[in-house]
Amino acid sequence: MKVIKDALQLQKVAFKHLINGDEIGLIPTMGALHEGHISLIEKSVKNDDITIVSIFVNPVQFGPNEDYLKYPRPIKKDLEICKRNHVDYVFMPSVNNMFPQDHKTFVEVKTLQDIMCGAFRPVHFRGVATVVSKLFNISCADRAYFGMKDFQQLKIIEKMTKDLNFRTKIVPCPIVREKNGLALSSRNSYLSDEERLLSLNISKSLKEAAKEFKNKSLNAVKKKAVNKLKKIPNSKIDYAEIVSADDLSPADKNTKRAVFTVAVWVGKTRLIDNIQMTK
Ligand code: PAJ
Repeated sequence: MKVIKDALQLQKVAFKHLINGDEIGLIPTMGALHEGHISLIEKSVKNDDITIVSIFVNPVQFGPNEDYLKYPRPIKKDLEICKRNHVDYVFMPSVNNMFPQDHKTFVEVKTLQDIMCGAFRPVHFRGVATVVSKLFNISCADRAYFGMKDFQQLKIIEKMTKDLNFRTKIVPCPIVREKNGLALSSRNSYLSDEERLLSLNISKSLKEAAKEFKNKSLNAVKKKAVNKLKKIPNSKIDYAEIVSADDLSPADKNTKRAVFTVAVWVGKTRLIDNIQMTK
């Protein structure tokens, strides 16, 4: 496994692989790797000749009062995980290498970037779309793996890839959860033991909602889940919405494939989760 810290150097290596006929898989991450990330890596190792993991806590996707500085950065452990899981290259650029002082270009995916999480984190998806575009160009990836845990992010990346004619194919991957239902997230490390227990109500509410989706009205399903979420002590709901799994538009009674997606603060930690609901 090679660790590469310079964008141009990785691009040169990736081009060589392309010319050799190798297929390249990319897993973009911000590090603090867990089983969710590992599930993406495993898929690429299986599908692709070359697997590249990027580890970059991307400053341009964090708002001014968000957790950029305190975001976990366990570099040594992350590299061990990559090595153990047969990653070929880890791309770990500095902020200056990705976003030098004179950087001026940003990618926006209109409308999709402004709803749900985007309504609460105004610069977030512009930052995500920009860094992911750069990573696609730098890595020359044939396939890039994204978790359905960040469902809105996945949809935005799919749209961006189509609109900008990237040759990279997006591979959506299912949410990995703890046995108790909690969706794995690097931010779970912020939770106290008590908050962790309280957070289980998020996945429980979603699971119940998905069971009732076939037989009850959307409003009834949503109301019950929101009531349960509201009962979590010291919590605040940013949003709880049932949307079309295809384009994130509001679901209605005719929607066959919906996603119930929520963002909830538990204490000082913002958690997101979602569940697919089919009729
Ligand atoms: P990060 O939060 O590190 O997530 C990297 C990838 O892992 C994303 O595609 C995310 O959806 C996936 N992932 C996280 N938790 C998961 C889980 N429990 N199950 C399955 N997949 C999971 O998302 C980002 O980083 C950044 O926004 C990034 C795309 C790297 C751009 O900076």
